[in-house]
Amino acid sequence: MRVREDDARHDAPRSRPGQFAQLLAHPSQHLIRRPMSIHDEGDGWRSFMVKPVGPATRELVALRPGDRVDMTPPLGNGFPSPEQLGGGPVLLVGGGFGVAPMHFLARQMDGLPNAPEYRILYGGRTRNDVELDVLGGLSGEVLPSTDDGSFGFHGTCVDLCTAQLDALGERAADAVVLTCGPHAMMHALHDAVRPRVREVFASLEEVMACGVGVCMGCVARTAEGWVPICTRGPVFRTGDVFDLDGEPNHV
Ligand SMILES: Cc1cc2nc3c(=O)[nH]c(=O)nc-3n(C[C@H](O)[C@H](O)[C@H](O)COP(=O)(O)OP(=O)(O)OC[C@H]3O[C@@H](n4cnc5c(N)ncnc54)[C@H](O)[C@@H]3O)c2cc1C
Ligand code: FES
Repeated sequence: MRVREDDARHDAPRSRPGQFAQLLAHPSQHLIRRPMSIHDEGDGWRSFMVKPVGPATRELVALRPGDRVDMTPPLGNGFPSPEQLGGGPVLLVGGGFGVAPMHFLARQMDGLPNAPEYRILYGGRTRNDVELDVLGGLSGEVLPSTDDGSFGFHGTCVDLCTAQLDALGERAADAVVLTCGPHAMMHALHDAVRPRVREVFASLEEVMACGVGVCMGCVARTAEGWVPICTRGPVFRTGDVFDLDGEPNHV
């Protein structure tokens, strides 16, 4: 879904990959805008991949060209910049609609002269869950996986990532893995690959309301204590959120 800003200004904030905006159809039956990762951005527009899972997202996917959307500026911290990722291989692991911010990060890297070598690992349950069109025009390799083997690698994107690290050999120790997708998938990815690579970053999803750190409706337990995901995240080092003992890291 591409949203054009009517009042686009040249000084409007540009988004960083991994940031999100909050969206609501306008008019809407609902009060609270819903967070959506930014899939791409251009002059005066942003695009999103919206999965219809409930009332507000169903309203969004029912919109037609020319309909109106209420959209916030970019929110959250975003992924580390390509310069901060170091010179090793970069693996972008998207589970389902979690591939949206991976597209934006890959596009940013494509525009840089000394961008790291990257691959996108795109996992879905079946062939119908993997839409390669949403990753069109990227220079990096896109490797699909399906749980049932109906398309691409047969297995989860966690299995695929492990196989990719095996193929990298000693270079795996320099690799950085960035991921977005279902919480359980990202946790499993952390458990499988964190000890083998330089760093793993995950974009956490949580039900959100204000989006600006005020309502405390989206907190996660991290190595630094309970923090709002909307402002201190959504991107965290996985070791800071998945390695904690005791209480669950989501409320
Ligand atoms: C930072 C961030 C980025 C996101 N990016 C995308 C994206 O690119 N594309 C996309 O389709 N969705 C994305 N989501 C999830 C999306 O915000 C929810 O699916 C949406 O809010 C559901 O609203 P609803 O009214 O349609 O359904 P609801 O009735 O509110 O919820 C339907 C189901 O989804 C669950 N849910 C609601 N909100 C969230 C949430 N924020 N995270 C996880 N589960 C939720 C509910 O518990 C319920 O089971 C993102 C969420 C966050 C926090
Ligand atoms: S949504 Fe209100 S603090 Fe995060």
